[in-house]
Amino acid sequence: MIYYKTQDELNLIRKSSLLVSDTLAMIAGILKPGVTTEWLDQQAESFITGHGGKPSFKGYKGYKHTLCISVNDQVVHGIPSAREIKNGDVVSVDCGVFMNGFHGDSAFTFLVGEVSMDAVNLAKATRASLYKGIEMAIAGNRIGDISYAIQHYAETVHGYGVVRELVGHGIGKKLHEDPEVPNFGTRGHGAKMQEGMTIAIEPMINLGTRNVVQENDGWTIRTKDGKVSCHYEHTVAVMKDKADILSSFDQIDAAIASNVNLYKEKETIG
Ligand code: MF3
Ligand code: CO
Repeated sequence: MIYYKTQDELNLIRKSSLLVSDTLAMIAGILKPGVTTEWLDQQAESFITGHGGKPSFKGYKGYKHTLCISVNDQVVHGIPSAREIKNGDVVSVDCGVFMNGFHGDSAFTFLVGEVSMDAVNLAKATRASLYKGIEMAIAGNRIGDISYAIQHYAETVHGYGVVRELVGHGIGKKLHEDPEVPNFGTRGHGAKMQEGMTIAIEPMINLGTRNVVQENDGWTIRTKDGKVSCHYEHTVAVMKDKADILSSFDQIDAAIASNVNLYKEKETIG
């Protein structure tokens, strides 16, 4: 069952989503080699509760943490631990906030220090694939139009692997609502979108093959071939002419720009 939201409800989801964005920006400001993923998780939890929200993931299906932090060949659902971030790590951070009765959900992949060009290109393409999907999130289109746009860009244009086992989702009073939003599919297939639908679009793209395995911790998903994976996610509202992106990467990009420990695209002069 798909729940359509009123403009007032959309604005509440926007508030939760922007607190997620601010949390990810805070993480972007403190991320550096030597910090542990459980310390980052604690900082995120204090930040969210300090701003009047609740971490959406904590308590979800027995999950005990605020963030999922997935490093290098880990795709998603990495559990915060005593693991230290190292120079060259590709760090995907996924976060959800519940506030005023509604959830927001967003993820971003950070490049720590001197990362491989393969990782830089994968991160850029994964982020771009998310926006290819968002462009299709307009009333009258179908979910398959989003799925196809992401798959075509990542697989056909770039030759990367698109993870099949995990998908995006409707979002609102529940973290996961209908419909499912796969990152692969067929144009013109799936549920027809209408104004007021709120969905989390979250491509998980692998440098190598699309195959993944689950680690023995019961949560962490990693690539079968051990190659790097990236993950970006926005919460968006379907609108008539253009999707309304309820989370934002602006504050994250600004925080990355002023953190010397994170990789930045070199400015080209002239
Ligand atoms: N952000 C994830 C998603 O979009 C949810 C993480 S699973 C959890 O589906 F258990 F950590 F919440
Ligand atoms: Co999600």
